[in-house]
Amino acid sequence: MNKREIEINFRNVLKTPVRWFGIVYPYFITAFVIIGLIYIHKLDVIYTNEIPPALKDTTTVVEDLTPVKGEVSTGIDLASISKPTEKQIQKGKELYIANCSVCHGEKGNGDGPGGLALVPKPRNYHSSEGWKNGNSFSQIFKTLQDGIPKTGMTSYDFLPVGDRLNIMHYMRIIAPGLPAPTESEIKDMDQTYSLSAGKKVPSQIPVSMALVKLEEESKPEIDIVKKIIEHIDNNPSETGYNVFNKAVVNKKTVVSTLLKSHIWRTGINEFLNFVSTNRQSGFRADVLLLSNDELSILYNYLLGLIKINQTI
Ligand code: HEC
Repeated sequence: MNKREIEINFRNVLKTPVRWFGIVYPYFITAFVIIGLIYIHKLDVIYTNEIPPALKDTTTVVEDLTPVKGEVSTGIDLASISKPTEKQIQKGKELYIANCSVCHGEKGNGDGPGGLALVPKPRNYHSSEGWKNGNSFSQIFKTLQDGIPKTGMTSYDFLPVGDRLNIMHYMRIIAPGLPAPTESEIKDMDQTYSLSAGKKVPSQIPVSMALVKLEEESKPEIDIVKKIIEHIDNNPSETGYNVFNKAVVNKKTVVSTLLKSHIWRTGINEFLNFVSTNRQSGFRADVLLLSNDELSILYNYLLGLIKINQTI
């Protein structure tokens, strides 16, 4: 017979684990539920991926082309390399003063103010010691082409080849000890750098810039479309306004497609033909189901719209 306890005798309860559990399990359940809720609440944090992704997040990092000004450099006359003209030397002097003398000094002693703090120091062209690439004509050309990694001597490949050669001619004026270019050296340089062939660098602009340009170029057309749509909206009492609005899904598309094409202007049938073959014209498909009267009202209305363009 079942006996109901009026008061729980905890001492007995502790001796029978099943009963003990029966009394405390609501606390366990409450605790689990709370932990579970906290877990769900913090899911974002728990699942934050700490391993760096192998691929860049392309939704935020937009890498674009850098603008490059195209150039067509005519080939170098190889003969002029060993016999530079006065004009070339003069040009070289200007370029040397603009680009090199800050570090290498006006006379090439390696004592320019920009080089004081540099380690290693800018090369003194008058000393034949310690050159990394070397002081021959082709070796100096290589230095200007590639630079000397991890030093203040960066690449000057952005200067056209002719300009670089002119600088080198001028360097030999201020530092006459630098060896003159030999025939075979010039031949080798021509092979390595295709000096006589010249080069063609096509212009390149970033996509973002191209988009802006495109928009600018189509701006007059966008303006006309805007004007026409304004005219439509401002003249709701014009005959054809209602039919037009009934027949059109997208006013902008309709106006710009109609502006671009002439064929539809030759007659109602050509117009119907145009609309049915141009799925993207912005008209509703049921424009083809308009009554003849409505159709001719619409057609004349459209012709009127296009005329606005000619009066702008
Ligand atoms: C920002 C300072 C700086 C400017 C500007 C600079 N140079 Fe240098 N240049 C250096 C330094 C520093 C070195 C020494 C690098 C080394 O010893 O590793 C050097 C080394 C050289 C060398 C010797 C390379 C060799 O084989 O060791 C040549 C040649 C040279 N420069 C030419 C030029 C010319 C020509 C220009 C201008 C178009 C120029 N530099 C502009 C800092 C400069």
